[in-house]
Amino acid sequence: MKASTSTSSSTTVPHNALPPPSTTSASRSSRIASHSHIKGLGLTAEGKALGESAGFIGQTNAREACGVVIELIKSRRFSGRALLLAGAPGTGKTALALAISHELGSKVPFCPIVGSEVYSTEVKKTEVLSETFRRAIGLRIKETKEVFEGEVTELTPSEAENPLSGYGKTVSHVIVGLKTVKGTKQLRMDPNIYEAILKEKVVVGDVVYVEEQTGAVKRVGRSDAYASSYDLEAETYVPLPKGEVHKRKELVQDVTLGDLDAANARPQGGQDIMSVMGSLVKSGRTEVTEKLRREVDRVVKGYVDQGVAEVVPGVVFIDEVHMLDIECFTYLNALLESPMAPTVILATNRGNSLVRGTSDIVAPHGIPVDLLDRCLIVKTEGYTRDQIAKVLQVRATVEGLKLGPGVLDRLAEEGERGSLRYALQLLTPASILANLNGRTQVEVEDIGEMNELFLDAKTSAGMIAQGGGYTGGNAF
Ligand SMILES: Nc1ncnc2c1ncn2[C@@H]1O[C@H](COP(=O)(O)OP(=O)(O)OP(=O)(O)O)[C@@H](O)[C@H]1O
Ligand SMILES: [Mg+2]
Repeated sequence: MKASTSTSSSTTVPHNALPPPSTTSASRSSRIASHSHIKGLGLTAEGKALGESAGFIGQTNAREACGVVIELIKSRRFSGRALLLAGAPGTGKTALALAISHELGSKVPFCPIVGSEVYSTEVKKTEVLSETFRRAIGLRIKETKEVFEGEVTELTPSEAENPLSGYGKTVSHVIVGLKTVKGTKQLRMDPNIYEAILKEKVVVGDVVYVEEQTGAVKRVGRSDAYASSYDLEAETYVPLPKGEVHKRKELVQDVTLGDLDAANARPQGGQDIMSVMGSLVKSGRTEVTEKLRREVDRVVKGYVDQGVAEVVPGVVFIDEVHMLDIECFTYLNALLESPMAPTVILATNRGNSLVRGTSDIVAPHGIPVDLLDRCLIVKTEGYTRDQIAKVLQVRATVEGLKLGPGVLDRLAEEGERGSLRYALQLLTPASILANLNGRTQVEVEDIGEMNELFLDAKTSAGMIAQGGGYTGGNAF
């Protein structure tokens, strides 16, 4: 599949054109591609949901409720609590959760998992949950450090005879020239720093800073003076640093507890974001254990008390939460009550059902009552034919599909009979059919043909119920 390029002179959009690039969802996986039209909750400043905004149609009560939760999260009064989104399949629960993550911005960690992800033969169920929870606790570390910063004007390694072997040479030191608006300085640096410079792929003309204490090298970007005229390139250009070469600089880094656990479990040294905290726990461990987590927590608490770091509680989103079993639910209760708990959003489309892992506990949504008790519950409503038509229209625009007269009505009718998702699913195949028939526009007859080829869930279930099987009871 190839994206249409801006140089093409034709104005028709091919049926397989990629949706218009969206800056926020581009970095996420394709799993949410079907929600790419959702840009946020679409609320006014007063928290009122507009009928149609940010890609969201209708569902105003649920959107407003989510808006309140966002306010609570932002003012840090929702930690350790849970929001449960409950409603029929295809009513926008997953879409709501993604909208919440958009609204919170990229600085607040958002960790989505699906209930069934906890079942693995290699990792314990509770381990998956606690890891997810720790990835959802952000830590903003502010540090003032002595650094040498500037544009690299010179980079000359000095070689010396290797005293240990007769052959080969080693780098004895490296001369680095750094330039700022105020002046230039030539520094003689240790061979370890040269290694770090090579790792960061620093060349003359880059803006870098070197931490005085640790010798960590960070490449900020390429100096403005070298900016080229390409329209598209991977390089970031930065202005020549102000002030002296040697200065105190405030560095802000965002990491999560999960990052810190991993960094300490596999100490590598080096220049990554963990270099600040990488040497907290000196050990050769390769596994994240409860003990290691406690040690990380202790150090983090120390940093928070000193005012060096700030905890940013994020959001864990567990979709299809009814897939968890009783063990997980109990563990979830405990996690919610721990002092550094993130906000939890749960979603389910079940009514009363058996709690997994038990043989006789039937509970609303398949969630034990003690967990349910800790949740704020928001219900998503079904859609009217009108609303279905609007969602279809939004999707058609995002997918670059042209719809002929009456198509929207016909699809909305299908959506009302089947489900919103079924109607949405018909869009793309119908456009392929139209294309095969040499048209660029989807017509009503394409939808008709689609209906002959595919079944919606209700029809399929109905056929099985009637005959015991699709071919009259003796198949399968
Ligand atoms: N109010 C809405 N406005 C715009 N698009 C919507 C709306 N509700 C749902 N959608 C879209 O409809 C599709 C189905 O919705 P979604 O996946 O969120 O349903 P769900 O409630 O999570 O269903 P399930 O219980 O089966 O997981 C998605 O592509 C979603 O983006
Ligand atoms: Mg869903």
